[in-house]
Amino acid sequence: MAEYKLEVTTGNMTNAGTFDHMFVTLIGTGGKSERTELDNYGADFKTGMTGIYTVKTSLSLGKLLLVKVEKDPFLVLPEDEWYCSKIVVTTPEGEVVLFPCYRWISRGELVELRGGRAVKIFEEDDPVLIENRQKELSLKRNLYQWEINDPKLPHISHFKDVSELPAEVSFSASRLMETLYTKNITRAELMFKGTLGSKEEWENFEDMKTMFWSKTTTIWEYVAQHWNEDDFYGFQFLNGFDTNVIKRCSELPQNFTVTEEMVKPFLEGGSSLRKEMEKGNIFLCDYEKMDGLPTRMYDGQSLHVTGGFCLFYMNPENKLRPIAIQLHQQPSKENPIFLPSDSETDWLLAKMFIKNAHMMQHQLVYHFMRTHHVAEVFTVATVRSLPVIHPLYKLLIPHVRYTLQINTMARKSIVGPAGILNKTSLGFEGMMELMRRSLSELTYSSLCLPENIAARGLESIPNFYYRDDGLKLWNIISSFVKSIVEYYYPSDSEVCKDTELQDWISEIFTHGFLGDKASGFPASFHTVKEVTKFITMVIFTVSAQHAAVNNGQFDYCWAPNGSLLLRKPPPTTKGESSMKTILETLPNVGETVTFSAVGWILSNKYTDMVPLGTYPDERFDEPAPKQMIKDFQAELSCLSEAITERNSQLKVPYTYLNPNQIENSITI
Ligand code: FE2
Repeated sequence: MAEYKLEVTTGNMTNAGTFDHMFVTLIGTGGKSERTELDNYGADFKTGMTGIYTVKTSLSLGKLLLVKVEKDPFLVLPEDEWYCSKIVVTTPEGEVVLFPCYRWISRGELVELRGGRAVKIFEEDDPVLIENRQKELSLKRNLYQWEINDPKLPHISHFKDVSELPAEVSFSASRLMETLYTKNITRAELMFKGTLGSKEEWENFEDMKTMFWSKTTTIWEYVAQHWNEDDFYGFQFLNGFDTNVIKRCSELPQNFTVTEEMVKPFLEGGSSLRKEMEKGNIFLCDYEKMDGLPTRMYDGQSLHVTGGFCLFYMNPENKLRPIAIQLHQQPSKENPIFLPSDSETDWLLAKMFIKNAHMMQHQLVYHFMRTHHVAEVFTVATVRSLPVIHPLYKLLIPHVRYTLQINTMARKSIVGPAGILNKTSLGFEGMMELMRRSLSELTYSSLCLPENIAARGLESIPNFYYRDDGLKLWNIISSFVKSIVEYYYPSDSEVCKDTELQDWISEIFTHGFLGDKASGFPASFHTVKEVTKFITMVIFTVSAQHAAVNNGQFDYCWAPNGSLLLRKPPPTTKGESSMKTILETLPNVGETVTFSAVGWILSNKYTDMVPLGTYPDERFDEPAPKQMIKDFQAELSCLSEAITERNSQLKVPYTYLNPNQIENSITI
């Protein structure tokens, strides 16, 4: 007689437990056990509980291959799903094998858990496991399918509604409840104040500061006080909610007709634009992609977006200031160059139109398309191409948690035809066109932070905390990924013969980047180095980069600091604006609070947030990757301390890339 000891752990999330009967069958190279009920005296499978059970066999089963788990109803109650975290089996020979599960199990489902060390396809030598591996991928490919939403954009998953999502990729019950609660509390506050849906105009900027009673942050308060100052305007392009557009300017675009004489008064010590360009002190934001986009109708008129230029100067005090704005690409008399010396309201209006273009690009291109959308590509490719026993599945799956759910929700309620962004200046058609135009800039190197910073000439610009923190994070992630990848792929030949890994990158290339070689994305992998770099980019994009563009939305993305909707046309001449013009251009009270509420919901922290580098699910069974995770966590913790210390010295702290504020995956 041989005895196997099983430690069976139920998840600790709401409703993880079950009253149903659970059965296991152990399958080994020497045979299989009887189908054995896991039944102890008293309650089994309660939330967060680990139960210890014994499975007896007449002889040892040899090398343990699979644990088959089945669930039968308790009485005739409705479906009572069980979230099984893991089963740890101690064999009669004393070997301890981890069988990670980390999924919901329903009645009648066939669940066969793979245990032990991570295995690549060419290492499989047992026909039972080869068949199991093929069966798993075939089921997954059926369950998760690609869909073309727009022929000129990355493909998406085929799920139309969150109700269609498999439980393993859905929000937990507690996350769903919290999301709903946040929405309701925001709505309730605005309704109580009578601002939600209000068509009234703002009477002054002071009133806008009292938009919320129950929600504020230190940065929000700072924004409320300083939003109209040039120094703070420039600061936001480096350390605000979107730092992706600004680049060093060594030559003016031909159609940007700013002259030396125009900007000379704003350069210190009588310097010239040419000289300051040579010194590397001039920077540019170019919103060409916004030029001529279709806009939404509003009160019977087409709204306006501007695809212009904003020129910045880094002065000797290391303050970045806007020094010239041209609101459209084509030079003309009706397209003057606005300057800080213009009337206060002319200059403010010009800055507001630039910020409006910046915010539209931020939401659709830098936030949705370049983090959420590409994360969905990585998610679908991962679940379709890599079986759970694959080392890179174990590494990547925590970094795609909840992404399909949040994107399916976002396509309905944020970026879809009936979504909230449809109430911005652009409307649905304009938003789609902006994303299509931006696809050519979605290159591999642009997603790799060190290359992105170098391409924009921003290696040495002072007080650029996004770059400072981001590059440190990139290096820490890279070093962790390198250790894991090199452990599982000791040589390039192993990369080449891992057909599942090749399928994974091929799916990403074909469905994510539409097979476009010019994008620079690899279609296949040849070396360990290539795999390391790519996976570093994946983890950085879905964690740090998303945090950088997502978490500052409540702090910064609200009118008058920045508005997604401007109701009046941009100025075409100087000297005709007043504060009344500005207040009429800004969204009305109801529109303002609606956009701000979205920022509140999207920047919220939820209790089941998993910070970067935290892996609550134990998926690796070998000591080496477990140690690598610990080293990764230690490095992140050191960086977190250093950033906290740096921030304590800053008037406006940059918190978005503090590792303790970054999630492992895109969940909001
Ligand atoms: Fe987001």
